[in-house]
Amino acid sequence: MATEVREGTLVLPDELVDTEVLGEEGLEDMINLIHLFAIGNAAYSGLVKEAHNQVVVISGESGAGKTESTKLIMQYLAAVNKGSNSIITEQILEANPLLESFGNAKTIRNDNSSRFGKYVELYFRRGAIVGAKTSEYLLEKSRIVSQAADERNYHVFYELLKGLTEEEMKKYGLKSASQYFYLNQGGSCDIASKNDEEDFRKLRGAMEILSFTTKEQESIYRILACVLHVGNIYFSRTQNAHQHEGVEVSSVAEMKWVAYLLELSEDSLKEAFTMKVTVRLSRPLHSQSNM
Ligand SMILES: Nc1ncnc2c1ncn2[C@@H]1O[C@H](COP(=O)(O)OP(=O)(O)O)[C@@H](O)[C@H]1O
Ligand SMILES: [Mg+2]
Repeated sequence: MATEVREGTLVLPDELVDTEVLGEEGLEDMINLIHLFAIGNAAYSGLVKEAHNQVVVISGESGAGKTESTKLIMQYLAAVNKGSNSIITEQILEANPLLESFGNAKTIRNDNSSRFGKYVELYFRRGAIVGAKTSEYLLEKSRIVSQAADERNYHVFYELLKGLTEEEMKKYGLKSASQYFYLNQGGSCDIASKNDEEDFRKLRGAMEILSFTTKEQESIYRILACVLHVGNIYFSRTQNAHQHEGVEVSSVAEMKWVAYLLELSEDSLKEAFTMKVTVRLSRPLHSQSNM
């Protein structure tokens, strides 16, 4: 039997009123959030009863609650779906912390602002979730190298530096966040409402659930560490005998770390940082004849 929470607005299936799904205080929370579950409910019924594909469009200005609403609707669909394969639903839900670590950052408007667009498709067969696909687009890449005052780079960097073990920090040559130019431009590396160390544990957990191998996780940490090392490389101006200006790398230690972590030769890396190559295509050049 289904339970009526608010007369005439929504009939909740028993699975949702079950305290195993909601917890003791969950029903009260649900009543506060009823509109989101109602939307999830309408989409799920449309899908199952009418066999029509459904789409939920979540829009609003930054900080309006799109990201949180999306997660709640996904949690709703995961809780009511008739599937017996809990690994798939767990993997679908765990994709969120992963995407947020790499794609969300503190801005002046929202401590957890999504800096990318996202289109999530959930696939159902006979009322059961059988898979999902997330397409991301338009990641704000410029944030990796520069941040405005009171803003931060992507969460993942701060989480990494708070959450890695001492041994891992040594392995990647890392220091605390305030020592990196790519992380300290905004002024503060900490967010009062967020525990980066705890979120790194969640990120590791998400990678495990999503079947990232140890090797894959290590390469991710390596690449992240390299981004931070690259940001701390500084250059000085040089002038050769023909008065041609050039640059040279002044921070050798950071260069060595990047070369070591990416398994590149130091010389070729240095060349890539200090030389530019101009390729000219040889095309016929047309100009007016002289007398
Ligand atoms: N349903 C909700 N319950 C509790 N807090 C919420 C809810 N929706 C939004 N918030 C608060 O507002 C902040 C911004 O919401 P978010 O979903 O990140 O906004 P958007 O994605 O639209 O920019 C969240 O970090 C959270 O503090
Ligand atoms: Mg968002």
